Amino acid sequence: MWKKILALFIGVVVGYWLIDDFNPDVLRGKRVVVTGSSTGIGEQIAYHYARLGASVLVTARREAALKQVVQRCKELGPKDGRYFYKTADMANMSATKLVIQEAVRRLGGVDILVLNHILPIPLGMFDGSPQNLSLTDAVLDVNFKAYVHLTSHALPHLVAANGSLVVVSSLAGKIGQPFTTTYSATKFALDGFFGSLRQEFRLKGCDVSITMCVIGLVGTESALRGLRDFGQHYLLEMLPAETPSDTALAIVRGGALRRREIYHPYLSIRLMTLLRDWAPEMVESMNRYLYTLPN
Ligand SMILES: NC(=O)c1ccc[n+]([C@@H]2O[C@H](COP(=O)([O-])OP(=O)(O)OC[C@H]3O[C@@H](n4cnc5c(N)ncnc54)[C@H](OP(=O)(O)O)[C@@H]3O)[C@@H](O)[C@H]2O)c1
Repeated sequence: MWKKILALFIGVVVGYWLIDDFNPDVLRGKRVVVTGSSTGIGEQIAYHYARLGASVLVTARREAALKQVVQRCKELGPKDGRYFYKTADMANMSATKLVIQEAVRRLGGVDILVLNHILPIPLGMFDGSPQNLSLTDAVLDVNFKAYVHLTSHALPHLVAANGSLVVVSSLAGKIGQPFTTTYSATKFALDGFFGSLRQEFRLKGCDVSITMCVIGLVGTESALRGLRDFGQHYLLEMLPAETPSDTALAIVRGGALRRREIYHPYLSIRLMTLLRDWAPEMVESMNRYLYTLPN
């Protein structure tokens, strides 16, 4: 009896997982803003949207890199595709308004806002030093406050378009990992903020979807450098990193399907988040086993 129930359960889970209900056509003509898109996962997100026929505004601090991303979008997208960039430093909250204004001026509105940027900071131990504290302030501004400000400026346009917010988070936003206290705190804060906002949208019948993307290790330059510089590079042999392009596609699909959350890679990250509530001590000791204190 139990074997049959287990087989049925596994069958349903595997079947659901295998069903591909993503229709790429739904993205054609959509007006998309992607933050942190001069490199890494954000850059690849921009390329997938362009390839799928969406119009894209990319934003980050480095103009030369953004120009190259726009050029590549033009090569990948349809002839009538519209691609723009806006330089902005997300440490400055007034820049968040300018980004959305530029998107509305160039694209005529916003259907999808992908919040992806982060302030790259080295891995390290929290020691309560003044340097630690000022870094915490800077990271909270860029990784959390700017997300809220961007959302507030884009909201009227998203509501008008029955659009989507896609928030790029991390396993570190569900389970505290060593050496990433402030980063992890900002990702947990995003989970709380956007989880609460989703409830408010549902209560008032607002049809803007919110997709939280819970991502594992991805082989972007900054992530690999961070591990190497803090002596944790050996982790890549135990936990191979996902590619930025595959990760970006999972994010784009999740947003298009208006999923509540996506996990990438699905099985390992989903399992860890489930175990977090059932066996927190086990999950924490597994994490401690993976990381080592640097010399
Ligand atoms: N890579 C991973 O292993 C991993 C794992 C889990 C989750 N994630 C999540 O995935 C997302 C992307 O990560 P990634 O590895 O692709 O990061 P990344 O390669 O370091 O790229 C970060 C992006 O943010 C921009 N940025 C940094 N500071 C900024 C500022 N002050 N104002 C505006 N833009 C700024 C950078 O461009 P400029 O320097 O030109 O400003 C760059 O485009 C993040 O939300 C991250 O938490 C990544």
